Amino acid sequence: MSVRHYKLGLLGCGTVGQGLVELVARNRALIRERAGIDLRFTQILVRDPGKKRPGVDYDLLTTHPEKVINNGCDMVVELVGGLEPARTFIRHALSNRKHVVTANKALLAADGMALLRAAAEQRVQFGFEASVCGGIPIVRALEGGLVGNHIESITGILNGTCNYILTRMSEAGVSLEEALKKAQAEGFAEADPTLDVDGYDAAQKLKILSELAFGGALPPDSVEVEGIRNITAEDVEAARKWGYTIKQVAHAQSDTQAVSLRVHPVLLPNNHPLASVRDENNAVLVKGDAVGEIFFHGKGAGSLPSASAVLSDIVEIASRRRAFPRISGRALETSKRNTECQHYLRFPVEEPSAIGSISAILEKHHVGVARAAASWAKNPAMNNRVTILTLLSSEGAVRDALRCISDSGVLKGNVTSLKIAA
Ligand code: HSE
Repeated sequence: MSVRHYKLGLLGCGTVGQGLVELVARNRALIRERAGIDLRFTQILVRDPGKKRPGVDYDLLTTHPEKVINNGCDMVVELVGGLEPARTFIRHALSNRKHVVTANKALLAADGMALLRAAAEQRVQFGFEASVCGGIPIVRALEGGLVGNHIESITGILNGTCNYILTRMSEAGVSLEEALKKAQAEGFAEADPTLDVDGYDAAQKLKILSELAFGGALPPDSVEVEGIRNITAEDVEAARKWGYTIKQVAHAQSDTQAVSLRVHPVLLPNNHPLASVRDENNAVLVKGDAVGEIFFHGKGAGSLPSASAVLSDIVEIASRRRAFPRISGRALETSKRNTECQHYLRFPVEEPSAIGSISAILEKHHVGVARAAASWAKNPAMNNRVTILTLLSSEGAVRDALRCISDSGVLKGNVTSLKIAA
């Protein structure tokens, strides 16, 4: 087989960039054999050339983006992250007719359709497999393997940091703060970890997957987002006792009219496929009209898993296996769902005897009580509490009942209300 030499300009050499350099060095011969492509880096953009980067050829480092983009490379790989200057770099590369591969979820969520359009206009390719779920080839699956399906829903654990935190809270009894510190030390939390904990990282990924799956552009802020910040050890324990696991779940659902998108902490029955996804792993359940439900699971963050996804785009584009994308000009409608589901409610109370009046107000609003428990706090820093699992109830009815319970004066603080997945 003849071998084609292929030159990569790399923008950014952090966790994923170094992983890519390592992976290309490790599997260069394999890629030559499989795809007939010999990969080589021309220049690598870094902020600080003096920093230690084991395995990286220091002669390739530069602090000038122009030297990477316009130095005879065939493709620009953007691993700088964030909106700017990454967007300017990518636009510059596209207008110079370079293929682009990126792992940049923030940029894709904000500007994905426009960048794809710019690439199509220049007749160059734009790969972004690594922007969602690290090593799991979910973008490729939606674009390729599932292309013959109407996608009905996507349900996933898209943020490794939150999943790691909730796993540690549930399995090792550590606090949210401690688990987050560990996730930061392991390197999979965002530089600003509020993006993880408050749900925005998962929302960006859900938006990218939904635009692909449902074939159109979604407006900014189309995802209803609720973080995991208010989940306590008591919630995790109460859920466990009743046969549930708390997870941060991203869910997109499409019907003929509109798409609804949500990221929120949810109680999953222990036998739900997403309930057993542990630590920083990600997983996605896709439902298509032909294939039914299909499950993807694996490492959603980290140096080599993300590099694996970047490399898959590089090899596919370099070996000219990819058709130019067709960009739909369609704007997708979004709607908020008022779904009926069971709810988990935790009420901080002065006296656990408040369980009587709380149950009565719920019933008055047609929110049936399936299970209820009253507990005394283990230490003075905590509140006595009442926890309730409701029967199937509409979100609106639960919201109205909670307002009435707050007004009744039996509470010592804010209610925690979480949905329960079927
Ligand atoms: N902070 C992200 C996560 C990294 O925890 O999933 C991968 O996108």
